[in-house]
Amino acid sequence: MDKRNDIPAHIPTHVGIIMDGNGRWAKKRGLPRTLGHKAGGEAFVKIVTECRKIGIKCLTVYAFSTENWKRSESEVTALMSLMKEYMVRYTDDLVKNGIRLRILGDLSRFESATVDEINKRIELSKNNDGMTLCIALNYGGRAELTTAVNKLLRSGKQEITEQDISDALYTASLPDPDLIIRTSGEQRTSNFLLWQSAYSEYYFTDVLWPDFDEKELRKAIEEYSKRNRRFGNS
Ligand code: IPE
Ligand code: IPE
Ligand code: MG
Repeated sequence: MDKRNDIPAHIPTHVGIIMDGNGRWAKKRGLPRTLGHKAGGEAFVKIVTECRKIGIKCLTVYAFSTENWKRSESEVTALMSLMKEYMVRYTDDLVKNGIRLRILGDLSRFESATVDEINKRIELSKNNDGMTLCIALNYGGRAELTTAVNKLLRSGKQEITEQDISDALYTASLPDPDLIIRTSGEQRTSNFLLWQSAYSEYYFTDVLWPDFDEKELRKAIEEYSKRNRRFGNS
């Protein structure tokens, strides 16, 4: 343990976060779900900044799943406009602070103006080496694997290796997540990084995403640092 700032010596290289519980956070306060998502956006900025400070090399946050389109039109519209706002306003600061931005997911359902803004920031930050921030947007592990298999089929390969699959995923060249945090008390993957999480450590907390702060993140990392990872070994 580093006594000055309570950061465990053994920190994960890649952290994944399933940012869940915005709706319940709002409901508890008698607020519309949209305000829960807004508060969730603030927690996102706080946690990205903290991960960078701690020295996490890669952070992947689950922002919108392929299944989240099932929600009401008004919630989807509100989420889209919030994400657009974050992409345009907040990522500029992140990029200036040495963060490299990547998107995991299919952006074809997003407005072309938003996609342009996103691509601009991906390009601008491509040489940043402070931390890689991956935002899983319209992401689903099954859709990702299906897209990858189709890509491999088109390449004409007759036989494929595990490495071929890894290289065809949105996460190509990224290390697998060491630690996956899910907030809000749910204990499921909800289609997040299915292939990549084969040996990830999971950390579940009842804290709702908008309440997840620096202290909660440190608790998760501390718990991770005590785990004994064996990868099938004895
Ligand atoms: C997570 O919060 C945000 C997204 C899935 C976009 P939820 O909106 O799922 O919040 P709960 O689970 O209903 O509380
Ligand atoms: C997972 O949360 C997706 C995101 C956090 C973006 P959900 O709220 O969509 O998951 P389920 O429906 O409870 O499994
Ligand atoms: Mg949820």
